[in-house]
Amino acid sequence: MKGKTFLHIPFNRPFFTGKEFEYIRQAIDCGQLSGDGMFTKKCHSLLEYTLGVPKAMLTTSCTHALEMAALLLDIKPGDEIIMPSFTFVSTANAFVLRGARPVFADIRPDTLNIDETQLEQLITPRTRSIIVVHYAGVGCEMDYIMDLAGRNGIPVVEDNAHGLFGKYRGNYLGTFGCLATQSFHETKNFTCGEGGALLINDPRYIERAEIIREKGTDRSRFFRGQVDKYTWVDTGSSYLPSDILGAFLYAQLEAREMIQSRRKRIWEHYHEHLKGWADDFRVQVPFVPAHCEHPYHMYFLLLPSLEKRQALIAYLNAREVNSVFHYVPLHLSVMGRRFGGKKGDCPVTEDVSDRLLRLPFHNDLTEADQARVIDAINHFDWEKPSVQTSAVRLSRAGPADKVA
Ligand SMILES: Cc1ncc(COP(=O)(O)O)c(C=O)c1O
Repeated sequence: MKGKTFLHIPFNRPFFTGKEFEYIRQAIDCGQLSGDGMFTKKCHSLLEYTLGVPKAMLTTSCTHALEMAALLLDIKPGDEIIMPSFTFVSTANAFVLRGARPVFADIRPDTLNIDETQLEQLITPRTRSIIVVHYAGVGCEMDYIMDLAGRNGIPVVEDNAHGLFGKYRGNYLGTFGCLATQSFHETKNFTCGEGGALLINDPRYIERAEIIREKGTDRSRFFRGQVDKYTWVDTGSSYLPSDILGAFLYAQLEAREMIQSRRKRIWEHYHEHLKGWADDFRVQVPFVPAHCEHPYHMYFLLLPSLEKRQALIAYLNAREVNSVFHYVPLHLSVMGRRFGGKKGDCPVTEDVSDRLLRLPFHNDLTEADQARVIDAINHFDWEKPSVQTSAVRLSRAGPADKVA
């Protein structure tokens, strides 16, 4: 190592298409910087048209879109919401804010998505929703889940933070549940820094969603000339982003084919060049079922043990390659334990959470960057005694799961 200098390869780097400043300038020239301006509407139309959803509404984050979903479903104290433990905190928190109890399901070891075969036994008379998360943008088993939910009269919400433009059996993710949420956080394929969207597939929710998003007022109806003044009509909050963010995001959504083709190239390059190494060392790589098309959101490795995962993270960091772990099981978090979560409840989640490592992945990652990452991995010394005990402790306590 001595004498060598490496250029840092970050885990994520925000990407610019080049049109963002121009669109922001146009938004400024338009004279409306608050929500639902020209560019926000363009984003809505693009999402509605491309995905074929009845209504898309930009929100300030995926977290806020999930909070809107909880309000729309009238979630009340004592209600139960079934969701995976292997997800970001917002999936649970949005419903817990309304007084619900999260009921955590384990994941499948192949796709790392909610294990649909466990859902039926978790349903009780208090179940008010099933939340699915399409991990890495690979679709959950939606045929099974929608059928089960339909038979039990339970609404399904898709937390599709990772999965915009991914497909399950030819249909876009985000078009199955009555509601779905998207994230445009900096780490996502398309971004405006912080942002999100609510997709509404059941038109019965549209009118109330407009009200909830506009502080509980019927302001949207007023702007359409449907009422002559607007007033407080329901509970709500301020969930609509400024049109500056809409302008930034539109530049990205418009460039979706270019962005997705870059990400496809990056994902396939990792997949092709790490396969032999992964086979040799019993490292699991992402699995995409034949009936799923994923949007190339992330590339991860499942190392044989926590110690090996931490050793590889530390080793790559020493070579200026920033890799990260993902998702501490929610049922074992401080809050999760307050809801009764304990070790052993979701064994696959606990195991995967210890072993998963995400490699650098962003739209500007070059083949030379990837060659360095792959070369470093190939030279990883599996036998070296673990020098990473302190790193294990450090990174387990760190906030790295917000790289989501
Ligand atoms: C599955 C999932 N849901 C929700 C969120 C929250 O997204 P946001 O940061 O847009 O609120 C994340 C974060 O990345 C996530 O991974």
